[in-house]
Amino acid sequence: MSDSPDSLVQASAEEVPARVDEAVDWAATRLEQAELHFGHGADNPHSEAIILLAGATGLPLEVLMAEAARRLEPKARARLAALLAARLTRRCPAAYLVGRAWFAGLEFEVDERVLIPRSPLAEFLAAGGAPWLDPARVMRVLDLGTGSGCLAIAAAMAFPQARVDAVDLSRDALAVATANVRRHGLEARVRPVVSDHFAGLVGERYDLILSNPPYVPAARLQDLPPEYAHEPVMALVSGEDGLDSVRAILQDAGSFLRPGGVLVVEVGEVEEAVARTWPELPFTWLEFEHGGSGVFLLEAESLSPLHQL
Ligand SMILES: C[S@@+](CC[C@H](N)C(=O)[O-])C[C@H]1O[C@@H](n2cnc3c(N)ncnc32)[C@H](O)[C@@H]1O
Repeated sequence: MSDSPDSLVQASAEEVPARVDEAVDWAATRLEQAELHFGHGADNPHSEAIILLAGATGLPLEVLMAEAARRLEPKARARLAALLAARLTRRCPAAYLVGRAWFAGLEFEVDERVLIPRSPLAEFLAAGGAPWLDPARVMRVLDLGTGSGCLAIAAAMAFPQARVDAVDLSRDALAVATANVRRHGLEARVRPVVSDHFAGLVGERYDLILSNPPYVPAARLQDLPPEYAHEPVMALVSGEDGLDSVRAILQDAGSFLRPGGVLVVEVGEVEEAVARTWPELPFTWLEFEHGGSGVFLLEAESLSPLHQL
């Protein structure tokens, strides 16, 4: 981690331009100069500057993007300067600083109890699971390792008939997921469940099992940029080889899928290790127009319930 130059950190409110577009440019320039890591819900300094300004003003992103010439109150400018300083000195991702994240076109509450939403699975859901699923026939969905609830909630929107189980082992994470379910008015269809993988789901059957499990090998954690240190370790690390959670999912998913159902799992940079470890499984590796990779899909029929791993 490189120390941010004092001149970047100690910006005062008077230095912050009073127009929205100029304030965003001002903050983006400082973020860029500090050579931070971007990838926690915003993959560039400009997007992260808009998020900081959303936090400083309390305004929706769409308003900030549509009203470039809008004037900023001195209080909002002071808050932007403070948020920027926190981003630079603490290397805390903007989403945590403002308590909000944007994913799949939706806004979520986030804090350091949950991973910041960023999974490419959003694109699979936006496409209604095509060509593997018919949205009108998806009645039960499981989101395993739900964190903020972002995938469970996006799935409920994509599959309007579906009841969704949003599962996490972390009660802290489920508290955030529950708040987000309420925020989106989905209490009747999205059920937060505390469970260690499938342990608390005996007897349930799903048309779609989604998961963005932890998959960082334990020894790799210390090599990640400082921004990751703000995220829960159990949302990132999964054993020595990063595969503990994937192993548990592949072990049992076949028993929880209905005929015709699919399992879709993000494994990021351990894609090759997954393919090497289970050469007998016919993984389809999904492609994404909006970026991201390392997501596999398996059909129920290829996952024997007694699959021995
Ligand atoms: C990578 S995060 C994904 C969060 C969210 N789905 C997303 O995409 O932003 C993984 C989540 O899995 C949860 N988790 C870790 N181990 C688990 C287990 N054994 N059973 C259930 N959930 C687990 C973590 O608490 C964390 O919320």
